[in-house]
Amino acid sequence: MILTVTPNPSLDRTYEVPALARGEVLRATGERVDPGGKGVNVSRAVAAAGRRTVAVLPLGGAPGALVADLLDARGIEVAPVPVAGATRSNIALAETDGVLTKINAPGPELSPAEQESLLETVRRLSRDADWIACCGSLPRGLAPSWYAELVARAHRAGCRIALDTSGPALLRALPERPDVVKPNAEELARAVGRPLATVGDAVRASVVLRGLGARAVLASLGADGQLLVSGAGTWFATARVSAVRSNVGAGDASLAGFLIAGGAGPGALASAVAHGAAAVRLPGSEMPTPADLDPAAVTVTTEVPMDRVLKEPAP
Ligand SMILES: Nc1ncnc2c1ncn2[C@@H]1O[C@H](COP(=O)(O)OP(=O)(O)OP(=O)(O)O)[C@@H](O)[C@H]1O
Ligand SMILES: [Mg+2]
Repeated sequence: MILTVTPNPSLDRTYEVPALARGEVLRATGERVDPGGKGVNVSRAVAAAGRRTVAVLPLGGAPGALVADLLDARGIEVAPVPVAGATRSNIALAETDGVLTKINAPGPELSPAEQESLLETVRRLSRDADWIACCGSLPRGLAPSWYAELVARAHRAGCRIALDTSGPALLRALPERPDVVKPNAEELARAVGRPLATVGDAVRASVVLRGLGARAVLASLGADGQLLVSGAGTWFATARVSAVRSNVGAGDASLAGFLIAGGAGPGALASAVAHGAAAVRLPGSEMPTPADLDPAAVTVTTEVPMDRVLKEPAP
């Protein structure tokens, strides 16, 4: 079982509009509501692969109840942690030309009792978990060290833990030795305080994160592919993609692909890239199913092209 933890989930409402115009009344031509959050996406991709997953989510108010209903309707098991504040509602405006404008709400502040209840729920469920994937930003009220505490508790319970977050929440968790961290290029650059211009820069930054405690670094480099830097070796992988529709959630699909395939080594990296490439061919944050994957389009090598200039460099 793959347990996911999303400390700040959301109810994502997308309106389709012909074009944005400030100060005008816009008439939506379409509307949809989705359960949102990076761990929620990982659970959706794991479930799509036919594997068991449980999504741990603090949920509150009417939006929280709707998130639980929507996940239930999609066959995803939820372990709700009731909170007093209402789950946030995020708004996305999708224009006909494909441009997406998002408004993300901050979400409720979790009380000390609610924070403890979240940790305790993870601990209770970790008995059955092969992996715990902790994803996304922390809500107000959670200290930057909260993920560090979660990693320490997961390891005490004998679980492996994957962490996909950024900034201080990532840096503070590294000394607790997360089994894998999954920064994108921008998050990796920010973590080491240096820009990334080449694949070699990304390798060196990943080595720095390992030096700070990460056991393995799965760095996703958007259109440039993916790197796995671990104690067992370093691999680089790419996948051919003919038409990119939406890169939203591609990193989450990648992390799910990595964990489904065992969470270590070149086979898991190949699965991560295959899932990322499949996700970008799908609209919105839709997660791929096994039928969407094209393993033949994936290349994995130990001969990392260190001097290759990134198409998507990180500032
Ligand atoms: N434009 C693209 N062309 C081809 N593959 C892509 C593209 N963008 C993303 N991918 C694939 O998806 C993987 C993950 O993408 P990315 O690095 O953008 O993740 P991310 O920024 O963490 O995304 P998110 O947080 O929205 O899920 C990439 O490593 C790659 O395999
Ligand atoms: Mg990401």
